[in-house]
Amino acid sequence: MADSSATEASTRRRRAAGRSASLLPVNGQPEAAFLGSAPANVRGGRGQAKRDRSLETARSDCHRTQESLLSSASGYNNYRGILNWCVVMLVLSNARLFLENLLRYGILVDPIQVISLFLHDPYSWPALCLVIVENMFILVAVYTERQLSKGSFSERVGFLIHCTNMAIMITFPAAVVLLVPSITPVGGASALSLYTILFLKLYSYKDVNRWCRELSTIKVKKLARSLSYIYYFIFAPTLCYELNFPRSPKIRMAFLIRRLFEMLFFTQLLVALTQQWMVPIIQSSMKPLEDMDLSRMTERLLRLAVPNHLLWLMFFYWFFHSSMNFTAELLRFGDRQFYNDWWNSETVTYFWQNWNIPVHKWCLRHFYKPLLRKGFSKIVSQSAVFLLSAFFHEYLLSVPLRMFRLWAFMGMMAQLPLAWLVGRFLRGNYGNAAVWISLIIGQPFAVLMYVHDYYVLHYRQEAE
Ligand SMILES: CC(C)(COP(=O)(O)OP(=O)(O)OC[C@H]1O[C@@H](n2cnc3c(N)ncnc32)[C@H](O)[C@@H]1OP(=O)(O)O)[C@@H](O)C(=O)NCCC(=O)NCCS
Repeated sequence: MADSSATEASTRRRRAAGRSASLLPVNGQPEAAFLGSAPANVRGGRGQAKRDRSLETARSDCHRTQESLLSSASGYNNYRGILNWCVVMLVLSNARLFLENLLRYGILVDPIQVISLFLHDPYSWPALCLVIVENMFILVAVYTERQLSKGSFSERVGFLIHCTNMAIMITFPAAVVLLVPSITPVGGASALSLYTILFLKLYSYKDVNRWCRELSTIKVKKLARSLSYIYYFIFAPTLCYELNFPRSPKIRMAFLIRRLFEMLFFTQLLVALTQQWMVPIIQSSMKPLEDMDLSRMTERLLRLAVPNHLLWLMFFYWFFHSSMNFTAELLRFGDRQFYNDWWNSETVTYFWQNWNIPVHKWCLRHFYKPLLRKGFSKIVSQSAVFLLSAFFHEYLLSVPLRMFRLWAFMGMMAQLPLAWLVGRFLRGNYGNAAVWISLIIGQPFAVLMYVHDYYVLHYRQEAE
């Protein structure tokens, strides 16, 4: 009897020991899992030792000096669960918005309507004709470089031809968009974007060839590249010309199809969300804007900020990841650094260095560093880059909309004082929040201003 009660007591102790050992987690995992792949005999020995230690701890000190997890002094930084919570909350609140939108407006998505944004008349494609004319400017630039490399043109003559070619490249399409009424704002903006890209590419083409001639290290024959190589550069996802681009070994079909699928999917989603979510808010903002009702205007601005920001993020992924990678994969273009981690920007400067790498690289190589080399100060050179960028932003909006309001221009120029303010007064997470707020609030403000002015100029006057 005594024997049996002693055995029972020892069994109870063993069970309790086993229980307490298995309940004590190590870094959120049961101890058995923590032991990992140790050999069975070693595992048994170590496991026993650990269980004994746990038992000891459980019996003696259950308190020790330690910080709460949420105090910064604890050094704890694993907020993965909180991030998931944010995503869940975001999805839930947007699901509510989505339902509310559907109940109020019904289904507004109409893919056919998108075609009318590009074309007024299905038999007339003026924006496309304008894009085809781009080839003329490419041929003039290539011809000029050939003559320069052969020595038939002097540097001065070559420079003059390039300047004239590029001046016409900027003014001619703008004049066509302004004067031909059948070009729609979206068609015009698309054509002008392609002209702007070509302008930057041919500027780089001219500069690089001149640098090579100056260095005299490259044989003349190599500079007179074939026309197909120039067209490779025109289609490649870069604005900076090189004599030899890094190439990837082969086209990865699975990668290419994934990017293509993303492109198609995000195009549909962008169009649908614009029609269903953005347009109704913009339409309902016209009255408060006309009445200068400040509180309602602020409410509409904040309401517009959510879909606008979501669409901008999707556009970023669609353009800088899916489309650029698709083109690069197709052309076996090796350099895929189209963006960096701009979302971690703690300063406005970091954002502009990392969100659009092709433009940033072009600005550094062909504008900023040449200005610095000429002896201009850093602030003057930076201001000049932002001035050029502001000009092109305004050019791409004002000309297709056929009205000059300078909202985009001012938005870009405001980046300089904003960069100074954020860099001077905010650090770390506060700086990062400031960058996000400027993106979330700044863009819908500009969108509302342009749409309002466009509406007043084109529709209210017509109605009156
Ligand atoms: C203006 C702009 C080019 C400044 O870029 P930045 O990276 O902040 O400039 P920095 O002063 O840090 O210098 C950059 C480079 O110039 C070099 N540099 C700096 N001062 C120099 C000097 N006095 N002489 C020579 N080189 C110099 C740096 O070493 C650095 O070289 P690296 O790139 O090889 O490292 C950038 O903010 C920009 O691209 N802005 C426009 C962006 C834009 O409009 N995008 C449109 C997107 S839609």
